[in-house]
Amino acid sequence: MKILIIGGGNMGLTYARSFVRAHITSRLDLRLLARSPERVSALSAHDIGTVWGRPGECVPGADILILAVKPQDSPALFETLQGLVQPQQVVLSIMAGVRIATLREALGTPKIIRAMPNLPAQIGMGMTAFTSTDEVSRAELVQVQNLLSTTGKTVYVEEESAIDAATAVSGSGPAYVYYCMDALMSAATQMGFSSAEAELLVSQTFRGAVELYSQSGLSCTDWIAKVASKGGTTEAALGAFGAGQVREGLMAGARAARDRAEELGK
Ligand SMILES: NC(=O)c1ccc[n+]([C@@H]2O[C@H](COP(=O)([O-])OP(=O)(O)OC[C@H]3O[C@@H](n4cnc5c(N)ncnc54)[C@H](OP(=O)(O)O)[C@@H]3O)[C@@H](O)[C@H]2O)c1
Repeated sequence: MKILIIGGGNMGLTYARSFVRAHITSRLDLRLLARSPERVSALSAHDIGTVWGRPGECVPGADILILAVKPQDSPALFETLQGLVQPQQVVLSIMAGVRIATLREALGTPKIIRAMPNLPAQIGMGMTAFTSTDEVSRAELVQVQNLLSTTGKTVYVEEESAIDAATAVSGSGPAYVYYCMDALMSAATQMGFSSAEAELLVSQTFRGAVELYSQSGLSCTDWIAKVASKGGTTEAALGAFGAGQVREGLMAGARAARDRAEELGK
């Protein structure tokens, strides 16, 4: 399987490294396309595949094309790909907000997979939602799922609208977690801990709580009930969060992210 990754930034490099580390492809079958000579030489230094500077030299011959450029760079990219993409090639786009219909029209090709990964993909702990056009075969879909799985977990969604929802939940989600962590770290330093101590207390608490949740069959509500005893400290904290106000705020935030994703895709 010959893979071409277009765009060697954060995500492009994450995929290249993950594919090679997982032995899902060899360096010989992995190509990267950059747009500037500086980027070509910088990527070549990573020694993770052949790096090209011109689409005409590397697009033909690839089985899978991965589009990993910023959404705002997509119109210029589509220009350079005119007439190069063949109908048998599978296009996997991770560009936020760029719809399948746009990709199909701009590239003139039917086999399209749209995916939404998130930041922890960089350490193999990512969450990716993906969907595809009907023209992508079962075998091709499995191949791409195997590629995406090298960066973490994946979920296939039938409707493209679910990609916007996943963008709001798992795509932007790490920022919500950091937001909560940051608030708790501020509380810890206010109470007299040093920044390093606050960071340790909070990061280990998040790590431990998530791991405990993952290893059990219990829900979040069950775990809250286990921590919060009647009249105790946790109950005091939950009370101060307001009658569901923090919860409502987080839910409203996710809905706002989903609405923005829909708007950007138009
Ligand atoms: N980062 C995330 O956590 C994340 C999560 C979900 C989805 N995504 C999506 O992933 C995509 C890439 O994000 P990123 O964070 O990896 O961005 P990035 O670090 O800015 O990388 C994008 C790369 O694309 C290159 N590029 C732009 N136009 C090109 C062209 N025509 N041909 C070849 N290369 C081109 C850029 O080259 P230069 O170096 O020359 O500028 C840059 O190296 C975005 O569409 C984003 O929506 C990212």
